[in-house]
Amino acid sequence: MAVTETARCRLSFLLLDHKERHPLAADRTRGYSLRADTTAHGDDERMPDDRPITERRKAEHLRITLDEDVASGLTNGFEQYRFIHQALPECDLDAIDTRQTFLGKTLRLPLLISSMTGGTAEATAINHRLAEAAQTAGIALGVGSQRSAVEQPALAATFHIRDVAPDILLFANIGAVQLNRGYGVDQCRCAVEMIGADALILHLNALQEALQPEGDHQWNGLLARIEAICHAVGVPVVIKEVGWGIAPNVARQLAEAGVAAIDVAGAGGTSWSQVEMHRARNPLAARVAAHFADWGIPTAECVASIAASLPTLPLIASGGLRSGVEVAKAIALGAHVCGLALPFLKAATISTEAVLEAIEELAITLRVAMFATGTPDLAALRGTPWLIRHDAPLPM
Ligand SMILES: Cc1cc2nc3c(=O)[nH]c(=O)nc-3n(C[C@H](O)[C@H](O)[C@H](O)COP(=O)(O)O)c2cc1C
Repeated sequence: MAVTETARCRLSFLLLDHKERHPLAADRTRGYSLRADTTAHGDDERMPDDRPITERRKAEHLRITLDEDVASGLTNGFEQYRFIHQALPECDLDAIDTRQTFLGKTLRLPLLISSMTGGTAEATAINHRLAEAAQTAGIALGVGSQRSAVEQPALAATFHIRDVAPDILLFANIGAVQLNRGYGVDQCRCAVEMIGADALILHLNALQEALQPEGDHQWNGLLARIEAICHAVGVPVVIKEVGWGIAPNVARQLAEAGVAAIDVAGAGGTSWSQVEMHRARNPLAARVAAHFADWGIPTAECVASIAASLPTLPLIASGGLRSGVEVAKAIALGAHVCGLALPFLKAATISTEAVLEAIEELAITLRVAMFATGTPDLAALRGTPWLIRHDAPLPM
């Protein structure tokens, strides 16, 4: 997408020369053996950043995902599939219907701006632009982890977007592991009510936590706590990964626990081990993170296998999706909605219009792909026989 190319140039506008103002301060509240008090990047001379660690980490994540190469060493897996072109589509391009009802709301396009940010000054502007674009285009949006604002109510305003996006399908977001650290239904409801969300995303990021110096290591017993939240929180609960994918056995456990939908957030796009590698304060931590560059389950594999084993479960495909053709493939494999994170973040550093341009390119490409496969609506695309593995022969 063209808009993403120029995003880096605009970064300074939003991040106010972040490298200078928000150094990667060395003090940490807790951690383990990968911690060190010296930095890998020679940050010692920078001004100290006295913001709480959750807030500081969010600012670092924004800077690193925008400034550094954080691409997974894996592909998203969609290149292993091809559509069989239909020379006789038997439908009208202008009548292609891309509407999708998901968790009770109808989207004009089967698209989600995946959970990213909030909790910092930079994030406020980004969230507003993403929300304006989502409202205009009629697509869904997830805010980033709201832990910082649950713990410091003064930060809640950085997540407030309902005023500019009153109609969208809006997802709150909390790290699932917080349920092992004292969070319960009250904190989850707080996140939902804070932004007037329609549903709650609990994200699973075990590998990221393992690679973070300040990460949460206690993941035992989490499924039962997720189940308790599903039954008590009062809104649908969606589980997502953050870029390493969800395998079908895990998806089945989560479905049995009562989750309303799964977002696979598979491998092939933004890699959080790469992000943590760039964040690492010492060479050992950076090297350990680097070993996980090609970890995870490619998004296409997650979608195909979960759709096959749980055909009635609402399913979000995300992780490395970058074009409308890939969106079309994800839906043909069984997804209902497709999420993108980093491309929309890059566009949001430019303007709301840049986000809308990115959405438009996805939408037009998706429509043309549907037309050229003779699938006039998303239900037809989901059931199409015209997506095959690359090496498979043409069906007769
Ligand atoms: C800057 C940034 C911050 C993110 N923060 C969160 C978060 O707070 N919660 C979450 O569930 N996922 C978070 N993610 C992960 C994305 O939602 C998504 O799963 C992942 O980036 C893969 O999608 P992509 O390849 O399209 O970027 C974040 C992604 C980015 C780029």
